[in-house]
Amino acid sequence: MSTDSVFAGTIPELYDTVVVPLMFLDYAEDVAAEVASAAPHDVLETAAGTGVVTRALHRLLPSARITATDLSPAMLERAAAVLPPSDRVRWTSADAQDLPFDDAAFDAVVCQFGVMFFPDRPGAYGQVRRVLRPGGRHVMAAWGRIEDHEASLAVDDALRVIFPDDPPQFLRRSPFGYTDPAVIRGELEDAGFSDVRIRSVTHHSRPTSARDIAIAHCQGTPLAHILAERHADAARTTAEVTRLLEERWGTQPHSGRLSAHVVTAVAA
Ligand SMILES: C[S@@+](CC[C@H](N)C(=O)[O-])C[C@H]1O[C@@H](n2cnc3c(N)ncnc32)[C@H](O)[C@@H]1O
Repeated sequence: MSTDSVFAGTIPELYDTVVVPLMFLDYAEDVAAEVASAAPHDVLETAAGTGVVTRALHRLLPSARITATDLSPAMLERAAAVLPPSDRVRWTSADAQDLPFDDAAFDAVVCQFGVMFFPDRPGAYGQVRRVLRPGGRHVMAAWGRIEDHEASLAVDDALRVIFPDDPPQFLRRSPFGYTDPAVIRGELEDAGFSDVRIRSVTHHSRPTSARDIAIAHCQGTPLAHILAERHADAARTTAEVTRLLEERWGTQPHSGRLSAHVVTAVAA
């Protein structure tokens, strides 16, 4: 498995406490509302991470059963520790490209900001199609271009200054590597989905210090592994990125534009 997809070690806690509040909360509400609008009874979530969407679904769908899955048991452990115990939520580790569920077991499948990390996306869409009942809905979100994402673009620019000869490509390759709506639509239709709708949704990140934006990216995502592989000291890189962000924006907490595709598709 590529280190781009490894959310383990110290990442789950930092992801949940720093990354999610920075830029995932508003999208989790959009995505969960989109799922809830069809009033499903059996919901599968893939790449559920530390459960920001799971918590919103649990609130918005008071009688649904939710199966929340992720490749990383450590992310799910954090998710289960944050949501108060509920007999309506089942946490299970699973690769979204090889789902351990029966055909037609769910009436909705949701995946927020996970699909960009799946090497075999067509295979993953095929799995979603298989486990959905006919007429069931797939709701997912994928980030738009990094150029429309002020905080991550600024971190990427800072990394280019710090590593001028060979800047880490993680942000452009993985979280911001699946941004073309035509490609998303084509892959979903090829997997047997109809009525594919793609909305481009803009939010703003919560006002956050340069240091927390640097920590979020350099220590709360798999970029941490890529820096470690280069023997780059995490604290020093975080401090350098912080300094470059403060040069760009000043020392006040920064709120920047975020852009994502929120996608719905119906299992034909
Ligand atoms: C950016 S996080 C998104 C988590 C959560 N959906 C959210 O919105 O906060 C990406 C997640 O994808 C998971 N992931 C990566 N590859 C996966 C795979 N093949 N199958 C299932 N989950 C995967 C990671 O473990 C991580 O939790």
